[in-house]
Amino acid sequence: MYDFDRIINRRGTDCVKYDNIISSGRPENTIPLFVADMDFAVAPEIVAALHKTVDREIYGYPIRGKEYFEAIAGWYRRRYDWELSEEWLLTTPGVVDALNLAVRAYTEPGDRVLILTPVYGPFGAAVKNNGRIIAECPLTYHGDRYTVDYAAFEETVVREGVKLFLLCSPHNPVGRVWTKEELTRMGEICLAHGVTVIADEIHSDFVYPGHKHINFATISPEFAANSVTCTAPSKTFNLAGLWNSNILIPSPVLRKKFATEMARSNTPLPTVFAFEACKAAYNHGDAWLDELLVYLADNIRLVREFFAANLPDVKFTETEGTYLMWGDFSAYGTPEELEKKFFDGGIWLNRDADFNVSPAGFYRINVATPRAVLREALERMKAILTE
Ligand SMILES: Cc1ncc(COP(=O)(O)O)c(C=O)c1O
Repeated sequence: MYDFDRIINRRGTDCVKYDNIISSGRPENTIPLFVADMDFAVAPEIVAALHKTVDREIYGYPIRGKEYFEAIAGWYRRRYDWELSEEWLLTTPGVVDALNLAVRAYTEPGDRVLILTPVYGPFGAAVKNNGRIIAECPLTYHGDRYTVDYAAFEETVVREGVKLFLLCSPHNPVGRVWTKEELTRMGEICLAHGVTVIADEIHSDFVYPGHKHINFATISPEFAANSVTCTAPSKTFNLAGLWNSNILIPSPVLRKKFATEMARSNTPLPTVFAFEACKAAYNHGDAWLDELLVYLADNIRLVREFFAANLPDVKFTETEGTYLMWGDFSAYGTPEELEKKFFDGGIWLNRDADFNVSPAGFYRINVATPRAVLREALERMKAILTE
């Protein structure tokens, strides 16, 4: 049994979530449910591996040992029934680094890169910051769910001459776990028009009962040959500050281009601590994650029930995956009014404008926090929105 109820004081640890509260001008007691890391202690098996690494007393340049790949391969074999090959594996500090590298590796300045909006902010930034142009295809909103408009998807690809598609699977922030049929339709359009697919699967370990994550590259050999899969233990095991992502590229051609761009950017290897944490996570983290998923599912239920009882006009989409809930708060104010209410009232959420769309009153709630903190945040939201 792991203790996800334990509240750990993160203030004063130089973390994004808590230590930007004062500098951003917010009330000191602000509850931050924004950036996607968790307020839970890392699995003790990982902490022990890190202690052992500290105790070596020397932290010189590392190499990627054989056991590192084997740990990753074991995780994907056990949890996804996906057999990885060692030569596919490249490492980057973050998945966002990988998105930027991919944009530079597979497109030229001025090329169009497709994103399905709303989507994680750095998807758009990776395109724009590298001098490429966003080809936007909005997801279709049905109130409780978003779907892909395939006609619009293909029309955008053709009209804009899209070269690259940044797929978010599962999709942050809307919570979709794309089905095999949905991924197949998107992947086939990409194959038909020569569009390379970057599958950001960083949230794939957070999927709730009734849904199944399908690794894009496992759908067919053609999809594998046309895609780059971005994975990491960082979201799953709360290791974002260690910087360690694993990028899987079955195609030798795509892999060479990516590796060339990594060399050009002098992308560093993971640190000694990241290597050890990743191995411990993937070798010993199953039980911890399985318990965490039950805890998160209960947190998601708590939020839904609280809102249904107290703020029934907020509409959430179903959180099929991720620990991020996406809701339409527009019944409680204009985007400007809502921003002011949350800011002044001491609740920090990510808003729609962070996800490559215009402000319309949608917010994302990170529920990966002890239940007592979440309860307090809910009571505060009720007070803020009903006063
Ligand atoms: C879809 C997605 N990709 C990537 C990241 C961050 O990746 P990294 O910290 O490895 O750069 C996040 C973090 O929230 C995310 O939601």
